[in-house]
Formats: sequence, structure tokens, C-alpha cells
Amino acid sequence: WTEVPPLKDAYTNDFLIGNITGSNRLSGDEFNLLKKHYNVATPENDFKPENLYGWGGRTLNFDNADRIERALSAAGIKLHGHTLVWHRQTPQWMNDGVTAVVAKANLEAHVTQVVTHFKGKVISWDVVNEAFNDGLSNGNDWRAALRKDVPWYQALNEGYIELAFRAARAADPDAMLYYNDYSLDNFAKASAVANMVEEINNKYKGEGHTRNLIDGVGMQGHYQTTWFNVNSVKTSLELFISKGVKVSISELDIRTADYKEGTSADTTMSASAQISQGKMYAQLFQMLKAHAANIERVTMWGIDDKNSWLSAGNPCLFTRDLKVKQAFYGVLDPEGFL
Ligand code: G3I
Repeated sequence: WTEVPPLKDAYTNDFLIGNITGSNRLSGDEFNLLKKHYNVATPENDFKPENLYGWGGRTLNFDNADRIERALSAAGIKLHGHTLVWHRQTPQWMNDGVTAVVAKANLEAHVTQVVTHFKGKVISWDVVNEAFNDGLSNGNDWRAALRKDVPWYQALNEGYIELAFRAARAADPDAMLYYNDYSLDNFAKASAVANMVEEINNKYKGEGHTRNLIDGVGMQGHYQTTWFNVNSVKTSLELFISKGVKVSISELDIRTADYKEGTSADTTMSASAQISQGKMYAQLFQMLKAHAANIERVTMWGIDDKNSWLSAGNPCLFTRDLKVKQAFYGVLDPEGFL
């Protein structure tokens, strides 16, 4: 990773290039690599409610989150906050089996306190994460498409989404506010998200606001080489842009066919597998570059194949020992690679 040019420099005129970080990864090779190649970072877990409250506690503890903020700031790396409202990694006391009044108070208090704490230090937030169902065949009725197994939904119905965005906007008017989800290359799911964003933004503007309430959609981007289709990503991306919001690719990785659910095979990729994975990264970045005016950030979900949340599948740009993969070159120069 040391001898190749900084990845971020290849996209200076396009969008920010990001990766993940954590409070236990703020030094050494991994952090130096982050500093060289990326100009924005997302804390993989430390900003999630579960971690901010310390496993079930009710008092916010920003020690680890603040260490991340200070390290990134000192390294000149921008900070994207992930995530305020989600059904996972959230203490039960906040929303599980409580009345609507209590859930609303907890949601607003959480969003307000966290966003206020990082006001001016976080460029953008994933305000609500993964609110929609998979496997949709139709996204026309976004309310019907919402996940119903989300405690926030069970307490507050669909209103929890708008409440969260309003609290975040009030706490830091300058931060970009994102709705973030996976499988948005599925057009039905993307349509449901787009319809929700449009309705909430129209309502907000109808109140006399001159800007959107939901500024952007984060397309997570957890893909697999066996089914990745750049045109599906493009179609959804253009749908979001047509609704007047920005798009970020927020959690990009393209796992290979080595990936098997539940396995942790420490496999080495063949040269040909590396090249075909590299081509998919290149196709994606070529398409993203063409839409750069409406893309704010492209963030990878993992520095290297060893530290990825995926224990198999070698989804990242660097090998387990931080060697440069073909995927890196595919991102560095998509035209040249293809
Ligand atoms: O920190 C504890 C450790 O103390 C304990 O010994 C260990 C035992 O299991 O668990 C550790 O916590 C784990 C944590 O990652 C830190 O490594 C959790 O169990 C594990 O569930 C958690 O996984 C995270 C996952 O979100 C949980 O929802 C992954 O790191 C993280 O990459 C992943 O990220 C999500 C995004 O937030 C949203 N989109 C999908 C994406 C991938 O699943």
C-alpha cells in the first residue's frame, strides 16, 4: 500500500473516498493506510447506540467516539457518523416494549444529544438505517414496504423516520442527513426508499423550508461477484438523483465466489479471480465518475480482506497482509483497467 499513489487523489474532482475505522484501530499500518488513501472515514461500530451507551447503560459515553474524532481530525480525514437510528446494536430500553411517548422521547433525546455533541465535527450522518424490507416486488407503497420487526416502528409507526431526521436537522443544520440501506440495486426496494424520501421532503418544503429534510440516500453496496450488475446500481442511483437528493455509496465491498455464509475460509485469490473482481470495481467507479456531480462520497466497508466484517470472500482492495489487489487498480484507474 505504500508504493502506489493515494486513491483519494484519483477522485479529487469527483467525490470523497472513504473507509471504515474504529477506536481500537487508530494507529499502526491500518491507520496509516487509511490516512494515505482515504479522505473520509466511517466508524464501523463505535458510533452505534449500543456502543455509545456501553451495552445497555443509559448514559452516553463519548470516550471512544471522541478518540476517533480527534485522530481523524489530526490526520485531516473527514468524519461520517453511522448510525443514529437502527433496529440492531441499540439498547432495548430505548424502544423495546415501551410506550410511544417514551420511545419518542428516547429517540429525540438520543439524536439530539449525539448530533449536538459532534456538531461541526461530523460532515454527514446516517440518520436512519435499514428501515425497508428485502425481496420487495413493488415499491409504490413505501409504508407497506417498511420493516415491521423494527422496535422503533412498533412503538411509533412510520413516523419514527421523520422524527429522527427533524431532530438531527435541528441539532446540526449544516450536517448532511442520509437515509442508508442495502440491496438498493433492487429497483423495487429503491423505489420504496425514493417514494419515502420524496414524500417527506415535499412535506418539509411545504412548511416553507428551502431545502430538503433528507439530503441524501446512502446505497450501502454490499455486492458479490456472482450477481453484481452495474446497470442495476446505475438505475437506482439515477432514480434517487431524479428525486433531488445526493447519493453516497456508503459501505462498499464486492465479495468473491469464495464467500460461503458462515464460513471463515482464509483463502488466497487466484490471479483470474482478482482480475474479474477488479473489473467489477472498475465498472462501478467508471459509472460513479459519470454521476460525480450528485455523489458526495464513496466509502469502502473494510480496509483489507482480513479485517472485513465478511470472514470469507476477500471483498476488499488490499490483501490480508495489506498488499495491493487488482481491485485497487480497478478503482484507481477504471478506464485503464477495463
Ligand atoms: O466488541 C465485541 C467484543 O467485545 C466481543 O467479544 C465480540 C464477540 O462476538 O463481539 C464484539 O462485537 C462485535 C462487533 O461487530 C465488533 O467486532 C459484534 O458481536 C458484531 O455483531 C459486530 O458486527 C458488526 C455488524 O455491523 C453488527 O450489526 C460489524 O462489525 C459491522 O461491520 C456491521 O456493519 C453493518 C453496518 O453497520 C450496517 N450495514 C451492514 C453492515 C454489515 O453488516
